[in-house]
Amino acid sequence: MQIKNGKIFFKNQLVERNLIIENGLIKRISNYSASEEEKQDEVVDAKGMLILPGLIDVHVHMREPGDTYKEDFKTGSHAAIAGGITTVIDMPNNKLPTITAQRLKEKEKLAKQKAICDVFFHMGATENNFDEIKKAEPLSLKMYLSETTGDLVLKDKNAIKKHLEIFTRKIVVHAEGQMLIDRLVSLLYKNKKGNIHLAHTTTAKEIDTIKAVSGTIEVTPHHLFLSKKYEEKLGKLTPVKPPLRDEADRRLLWQSLDKIDCVATDHAPHTIEDKEDGAYGYPGLETSLAIMLDAYNKKLLTINWIVERMAINPAKIFGLNDRGEIAVGKKADLIFVDTKQEWQVKGEELETKCKWSPFDAWHLRGKVKTVIRNGKTIYEGGEFVY
Ligand code: DOR
Ligand code: ZN
Repeated sequence: MQIKNGKIFFKNQLVERNLIIENGLIKRISNYSASEEEKQDEVVDAKGMLILPGLIDVHVHMREPGDTYKEDFKTGSHAAIAGGITTVIDMPNNKLPTITAQRLKEKEKLAKQKAICDVFFHMGATENNFDEIKKAEPLSLKMYLSETTGDLVLKDKNAIKKHLEIFTRKIVVHAEGQMLIDRLVSLLYKNKKGNIHLAHTTTAKEIDTIKAVSGTIEVTPHHLFLSKKYEEKLGKLTPVKPPLRDEADRRLLWQSLDKIDCVATDHAPHTIEDKEDGAYGYPGLETSLAIMLDAYNKKLLTINWIVERMAINPAKIFGLNDRGEIAVGKKADLIFVDTKQEWQVKGEELETKCKWSPFDAWHLRGKVKTVIRNGKTIYEGGEFVY
């Protein structure tokens, strides 16, 4: 396949280049040549488009198995692709939490059968699943220090310490509020600086605390763009963990943009009925990039910031070395983006099974037009074409 006439994000710049894709990988990045075009079985014209690496969302709740009335690998992955996200890392707080090697395997199998994007998994940490973690060798470990959907919360100080001490890859931590984050840092094993990743960080002070121990910082679009005053509008949809913060905190978060390592959605679909019963969380896969592009159009963010936080850094943080940027030899997961297209978020038209969005009715400028996964076009102009 050849992709011509687009502007590609290459070596931290947008440049006009021709892409040659072969066997699901980026084979060549060069200037256009007519003789090369003749050799191709498929030529895609990307005129007027920005071509970015497929995005990586490291914080997603696909809800399968257990709560497939909220979401499943099929609907969740369609939502991801429609949002330009070609790789997700799924969370372990299922009805039967992902805390054993067997459950992790079962999830992998389900995702392989049903998902149209790549799915990796965080494994849950409990008071006593050290042997299971060793056996499963997960990509990363998720440690809940705060209460959340499900009952995966970890209270025992010694267990927390032991996980921090022995797990060698990234440990994603859900810890809400400065007190818990200070506690986490105090328990950090002395040589393990840098292997914690704070999920959905909401304040500048939390960022500085984690950065002081070389950890990595994730923020969600909802904490960047919504604050407490928006709760009036959200009504029954309001509950989310961590909660929306004051406007002053939200502004401080924006002043810390440089220290943020990645943007992840915390896509946490619930039915409206469950929200009315107090369920925590918002769906976010289909709106996150568009919200960022809208902010780019308003000159609040640069394309570089967006691609670094949504593709390059997530790949680096979780060791997904075959993806995350457009470079020769990387996986041909690519998205074409029209930064000028205006559209309105309509919850009921989304791919997610829950069919609502906290950003409902927002007018946004910027949209994903085409998604190429493993060198094959699977989404084009709002339609799935696989
Ligand atoms: O709002 C949230 N929803 N925060 C979490 O930490 C979990 C998530 C969920 O699984 O519903
Ligand atoms: Zn979450």
